[in-house]
Amino acid sequence: MTWRAEHRGAGAPRAVTSLQNPTVKFIRSLEMRKVRRETDLFVAEGASILVMARDNGWHPSTLVFHSGTRMTPVHRQLVEWAANSEAEILEVSEAVLAKIASKENPQNMLAVFAQRWQELPHPSEVSENDLWLALAEVRDPGNLGTIIRTADAVGASGVILVGSCCDPYAREAVRATMGSIFSVPLVRTDCARFLGWRREWRGDVIGTHLGAKEDFRSVRYRGPTLLLMGSEGPGLSEELTRSCTRLVKIPMAGGLDSLNLAIATALALYQIRGPYLKL
Ligand SMILES: C[S@@+](CC[C@H](N)C(=O)[O-])C[C@H]1O[C@@H](n2cnc3c(N)ncnc32)[C@H](O)[C@@H]1O
Repeated sequence: MTWRAEHRGAGAPRAVTSLQNPTVKFIRSLEMRKVRRETDLFVAEGASILVMARDNGWHPSTLVFHSGTRMTPVHRQLVEWAANSEAEILEVSEAVLAKIASKENPQNMLAVFAQRWQELPHPSEVSENDLWLALAEVRDPGNLGTIIRTADAVGASGVILVGSCCDPYAREAVRATMGSIFSVPLVRTDCARFLGWRREWRGDVIGTHLGAKEDFRSVRYRGPTLLLMGSEGPGLSEELTRSCTRLVKIPMAGGLDSLNLAIATALALYQIRGPYLKL
């Protein structure tokens, strides 16, 4: 007997085998940034990521699982959470799942959520020990997801996306966050607004820059700290570079001209937050 057959009634899963089902087609369309922007929705895949969503107080609008899933207690709890959230619940065939799950590392369960965006924090809300991370024109969703995950790991207060960045709610980015997309506050802003807001910032604004003369390990970071990272391509613009109180560099021994953005961000975050982190 399938899970659906055992649980009839309100909030019960509905069997779907047709690729033409409107919800199935809609979930597939959420792969397009344009549709995510218009609907403010996104897809997260995999039971462990969905557990993070639930534990952080999120509620899905739709939950989909493969009819062949071996339902563990965690899967059952997730279906119950979706039912309590009044989500549409679909128990789908393999062919339907293949159409909507990601091609790399497909998962048996996925859900649709409303995106959450926050405003730039008011200066009075920022405390001495806070670390905010600002990313200028980040392009690669895998880098962005990894950075959100690392920001979560060091207890950063949030991530500010400055200018035309890639979408943190793209599937690749969501997957790379490993669930931190549900716990790290995200802000999006254009450069002019960011620069206006930054003028009220009381602590250090640290820019990581390849032309910097200071070693990132020898700086005493004065909180609250705003860490500013440049894009994968051109790095920090002159305007943003000028807005920093200090510029730091991560030394490199080889003949490379730079580190990968996510790696450089992780090193800088750990350097700044290291003293606060305990095993
Ligand atoms: C791939 S790098 C961009 C390289 C770009 N060609 C440039 O000139 O900045 C992306 C971002 O990571 C940071 N970054 C990478 N390697 C770094 C290093 N060794 N020291 C300081 N920041 C670094 C900077 O914020 C940089 O803008």
